[in-house]
Amino acid sequence: MSTQQQQPVLSLRNLTRVHGSGATEVHALRGIDLDVHPGELVAVMGPSGSGKSTLLTIAGGLDNPTSGQVFVEGTDITALGIKGLAALRRRSIGYVFQDYNLIPALTAAENVALPRELDGISARKARAEALAALAEMDLGQLADRFPDEMSGGQQQRVAIARALVGDRRLVLADEPTGALDSETGESVLALLRSRCDAGAAGVMVTHEPRFAAWADRVVFLRDGAVVDQTIRSDADSLLAGRAAQL
Ligand SMILES: Nc1ncnc2c1ncn2[C@@H]1O[C@H](COP(=O)(O)OP(=O)(O)OP(=O)(O)O)[C@@H](O)[C@H]1O
Ligand SMILES: [Mg+2]
Repeated sequence: MSTQQQQPVLSLRNLTRVHGSGATEVHALRGIDLDVHPGELVAVMGPSGSGKSTLLTIAGGLDNPTSGQVFVEGTDITALGIKGLAALRRRSIGYVFQDYNLIPALTAAENVALPRELDGISARKARAEALAALAEMDLGQLADRFPDEMSGGQQQRVAIARALVGDRRLVLADEPTGALDSETGESVLALLRSRCDAGAAGVMVTHEPRFAAWADRVVFLRDGAVVDQTIRSDADSLLAGRAAQL
């Protein structure tokens, strides 16, 4: 079965988001439609302020749209209550924040294990999964360090391990390579890619054409609207043209 015939993991339908009101009103998203299927990695690019983070936070159930719908594995998450949404987020959605969002009082391993423990997995199993996810990020040695004892790039990789631990079907990453050198960035992208190849759906915000090149599709936003979409086969030439404008 081709990926297009399967139910999308993420569907955004006519999504709008207005921040503020009156004179300070900002139309951050203006009618976004997007489907991401199992196996697909989509890169979102666009100038600063074009709505990339707003799109991702709404897709992850961290913010509500002004209008429109967000389906995750067929469930309209805008219609869920707080508890239902929290459970669905822990089970199905891995989220890498632009600023990591690690819990300072927890070690790297505890940060990664927390969502699994909250999901009812035993502490021992959650720790074993966390250590495996950290090892995948080449952070096995730092499992018992606290966030303020790690570099920015190391914290970013812990945040990525936290998003990938367990079997999340949807991985959302806001500039996951921002604090990484290009070699580490490539290895993070390779891991995200392999997660998607194994059946997850991924959406990643990036400013870097070389990281976007790992995606199956690139969606370009400007002023809260999709202005261009490209699939990988013609991505290189389009990326070169778009990158010059960013
Ligand atoms: N909480 C908020 N209140 C008011 N305006 C907001 C809020 N959050 C975002 N905005 C505005 O919405 C628009 C889109 O912001 P968003 O953070 O989605 O952009 P972005 O594409 O992620 O930018 P960057 O590349 O700088 O991270 C911007 O004009 C921003 O100023
Ligand atoms: Mg942003």
